[in-house]
Parts: sequence; structure tokens; C-alpha cells
Amino acid sequence: MKILLTGGAGYIGSHTCVEIVQAGHDAVIADDLSNSKPAVLERLKELTGKDIPFYQIDVADKEKVDEMFAKEHFDAVIHFAGYKAVGESVTKPLMYYRNNIDTALTLLEVMEKYDVNNFVFSSSATVYGVPETVPLVEGMKTGCTNPYGWTKLMIEQILTDASAANKNLSVVLLRYFNPIGAHPSGRIGEDPNGIPNNLLPYITQVAIGKLPQLGVFGNDYPTHDGTGVRDYIHVVDLAKGHVKAIEYADEHKGTEVFNLGTGTGYSVLDIVNAFEKANDLKIPYVIKPRRSGDVAEMYADPKKAKEVLNWVAEKNLVDMCQDSWRWQSNNPKGYDE
Ligand code: UD1
Repeated sequence: MKILLTGGAGYIGSHTCVEIVQAGHDAVIADDLSNSKPAVLERLKELTGKDIPFYQIDVADKEKVDEMFAKEHFDAVIHFAGYKAVGESVTKPLMYYRNNIDTALTLLEVMEKYDVNNFVFSSSATVYGVPETVPLVEGMKTGCTNPYGWTKLMIEQILTDASAANKNLSVVLLRYFNPIGAHPSGRIGEDPNGIPNNLLPYITQVAIGKLPQLGVFGNDYPTHDGTGVRDYIHVVDLAKGHVKAIEYADEHKGTEVFNLGTGTGYSVLDIVNAFEKANDLKIPYVIKPRRSGDVAEMYADPKKAKEVLNWVAEKNLVDMCQDSWRWQSNNPKGYDE
């Protein structure tokens, strides 16, 4: 298949690009580079042995998207492009709704025009809101706590409605838990702008000496050590889930939703300890107040992805910690070397 990856220069998109090519498909990237660097394209060439066609465009720009579709004859789209900072979405909700919803609508309209009928969407476990029970199963109640999360849930709804109306359209919604780690080569990884919001990039920047210490947001949650529990998944496992999802979409009509997680929850302090042990390093930390909007515990029931997609996460926490550190230590300034 020839697959368009919107946001393919980003963290999850770039890792998915490698797996897509390794599975024998052709990848094309569309990315405006607003939150990624052009150097990733060189690294992708190095890892895949292929020049990945690249369009530096805003996926909400219908004219440019139309031109690209006219030229490329895609079989499928994996849609990663979007704003993703939770805190920023609270202060700039209109920017989030405009950008994230617009890009999805533009893609759907252009796909319909060119009769492209396979769509995989990068959704998030954030659509479960504040969970009543864990593990989280796909059919459970959804609802969000911030505009970023609502854009994910609204796009899930738009895609579900579009595939109900267009019987040719196949949609797979992937709800990611917490992707961490990096490609084992150490050549591609997560390169956030500014001070990281997420736990692993924060830890690796403390380890490299860029940040003095980690703040642990709350130690009074009802969890085994009081710190928040999440389902961390290696980004390469997550990327492989996209290959299964796009191949599934090609063979089935309608909409399906899958959790992509390991099914195991680790606390913040479990992660700190595992990272120290896996890499023989010390991560200084202090306990801080809870971060607003955080929940105590979230982890997936990954059974459906196993049964239907024949996908399971294969890498363990040691792999995730070692690969995160290899990326950071080999690229202290990310892609800005
Ligand atoms: C966050 C987003 C989620 C998004 C996901 C994408 C929030 C509230 N949620 O998930 O919507 O889909 O990222 O990757 O932002 N922690 C610390 N210190 C830090 C950073 C994090 O203690 O400096 C803790 C958090 O309190 C949490 C855990 O580490 O318990 C994981 O945090 P994070 O990596 O930000 O992910 P989520 O909050 O689960």
C-alpha cells in the first residue's frame, strides 16, 4: 500500500514510518514541521534505505492537500498531525479545535474526492477522562477533561459518522496509552520543544544535565506508592500496531477502536527506579503538588488488539528506559546537532 503519514516527522509518526517501510509498504510524509525538525527526514532515509517523499504543508490547507493526493495516488492515510499539549489547549482552546478538527475534515473530504478509503487515527487514552475502573476497555464511557482530549474524541465521532455514511470507508481509531522509548538505533526519538511536559523526556533531560531535578506530581494518590500509575508502551511497539491497523482497515469496512497499551501500570517512582537501574544513573527528584487534570491510575485492557489485530506489545520497561536514554545521550540537543 502507499500510505500518507500526516505528522510523519513527529515522534510517533517517524517511528511508524520506519515500520511501515519495513513491512513492505510505501510511505509519504506530510508535515508542516511546526513541532518537528527536517533532520528527521535524513535519519529516516538512513534507517529505511529509502528517500521518503516529503510535503511540507499544513494538512488543513485543502488546495495543497488536494494537489498532493492528485499526484500520489494513496491507498491509505494515517493521521498523526495535530496539536497535543494539554495545558496549552486549556489556554488556547479555539486554536486547538480549529487546527485539529480542520485537518481531519480536510483529509476526509479530499480522501472522498480521490476515493481513498482507509483511515487510521491517532487517538489517545485521554478520551476515557477520569476512569471509574481500570483496566480500560474500548466500550467504556468516554469524556474529556481538556480541549486537547475533546478534539481527539470529536474526531473519533466525525470518523465514525463518516464511515457510517460512506460504506467504502474503513476507519481504525487507535487509543494510545503512554508512548516512551525510541528506535533502538538511537537515531530517531522524542524531541520536545522547550521544557518537556511528559515524564520520560523530563527524566532523560535531568539525566543529561539539562534540567536539575524531576518534580514528581503528587505522592498521595491511592496507588501502591502514592504516585500516578500509567501504561507505558514502547514507541516501536506502538508503531507496529499502526501497521496491523492499516492492514486491518484495508480488509474490513466500518469503524473499529483499539487500545494500544501493554496492560501493565507503573508508577512515577517505578519509572524513576527502572530508569536508574537500566542505565546505571541517578535521577534526583522532589515531590511536588499534584498536577491539575491528572488521574491516579490508567492502564489498558489490550485484549481486543490482540484478538482482532494479532498485535501485542513485545518490549519491556528495561528496553523502554535503555532506548530512551540511548536516544537522549547520543543526541543531547535532539535533532539540533
Ligand atoms: C499526558 C496527557 C495526555 C496525553 C499524553 C500524551 C496530561 C494531563 N495528560 O498523559 O492527555 O495524551 O500525555 O503523551 O497532560 N509526571 C511527573 N512529573 C513530570 C511529568 C509527569 O510526576 O514532570 C507524572 C504525571 O503526574 C503522571 C505521569 O508522570 O502521573 C505521566 O505523565 P505524562 O508523561 O505527562 O503523561 P500523562 O499525564 O499520562
